[in-house]
Amino acid sequence: MTIQPIYLDYHSTTPVDPRVAELMVYYLTTAFGNASSIDHTYGDEAEKAVYNARQAIAQLIKASPKDIIFTSGATESINLAIIGHIQAINSPKLPRIAVSPVEHKAVLDTIQMLAKKGQAELIYLKVDGFGRLDLENLENTCADGLSLLCVMAANNEIGNIYPIEKIGQIAHQYDIPFLCDASQAVGKIPINFNDWGITYLAISAHKLYGPKGVGALVVRKGYPLEPIIFGGGHQKGLRSGTLNVPGIVGLGEACRLRQLEMEQDEQQIARQRDRLQTLLQAQIPDLQVNGNINARLAGNLHISLPGIPNSAIIARVRHQLAISTGAACSSGVATPSHVLRALKLSDEMIEGALRIGVGKFTTDEDIEKAANILTVAVEKIRPYLS
Ligand SMILES: Cc1ncc(COP(=O)(O)O)c(C=O)c1O
Repeated sequence: MTIQPIYLDYHSTTPVDPRVAELMVYYLTTAFGNASSIDHTYGDEAEKAVYNARQAIAQLIKASPKDIIFTSGATESINLAIIGHIQAINSPKLPRIAVSPVEHKAVLDTIQMLAKKGQAELIYLKVDGFGRLDLENLENTCADGLSLLCVMAANNEIGNIYPIEKIGQIAHQYDIPFLCDASQAVGKIPINFNDWGITYLAISAHKLYGPKGVGALVVRKGYPLEPIIFGGGHQKGLRSGTLNVPGIVGLGEACRLRQLEMEQDEQQIARQRDRLQTLLQAQIPDLQVNGNINARLAGNLHISLPGIPNSAIIARVRHQLAISTGAACSSGVATPSHVLRALKLSDEMIEGALRIGVGKFTTDEDIEKAANILTVAVEKIRPYLS
């Protein structure tokens, strides 16, 4: 039997909770009906399962169940929110979209596409060297008038948690529609869609112990989106396509379990992350911790090892430890992280950056072993570099 590497890349994706997987299997094999089939009980059971999932998701993020649109994941949710929102605006003026420079590529690339086509103006908000947003700059930008404001709830690289309640208040004050990509935050920190002035909220199941390929966009009532996918008119015509019932069930069950277990799990995760940070700092004195250590996800540890290329560390540890050099990238081509560039980290710090993600299935033993594997790797590599 091959020994699996210790998994510490929970920002990239999480394993599916076995309880979630078990429920999904029932909807894959036994209750496999189409939720739109109204003529038999297979359809009824699928529809009921989707209804229940809606309730569980809505409860976790304090939204109304009818505001939830199911999608194939956060990337689609974000595309729908941005493109659908801009297309629904009926104004001769060029729409202005303000965005945090540390957003996920799903947000940045979508807005850049619109800007390239001359369909929107893109305005970057300011962040400091810790990745914190300049709220005065954000407020001034809102005061100048915007068609859409995009700020994530938590960052997928440095783990920063952004003050979404405060940002939502500012957006609300200036009557600016506000897209919050909450992919990394839902199920880890409290979110209140109803009370926080959020207009669109993007969710992804595979970041919270649910399956890949399913997510949701929560849309505040009164905001008419144009669809970006056309077909059978499912989900009030906003997102056509047969509902992914097992996936939706998985997302719902993952949310239900997060609601019950989030607080306790996140405490344990924070303790483990802190232990790992302490062990590494003790063994590698020049190690730098990136991001805002006063407001970061419990499971996030983003470090730079000055003078040691992250590729050298990864090459050495990859069969023992699953960590990453940054965001999971689809192309497989390593490009410098736009997030770390926005923080204006030096090239040396960017080249030595490693993202470690602790999660609910991480054990204390994993943490001790991971610290040891990384420390040995640094000791072995350093002599070749000096
Ligand atoms: C912050 C953030 N936004 C969006 C996404 C895209 O999510 P999905 O994989 O569900 O399309 C991710 C996943 O990497 C993410 O971390």
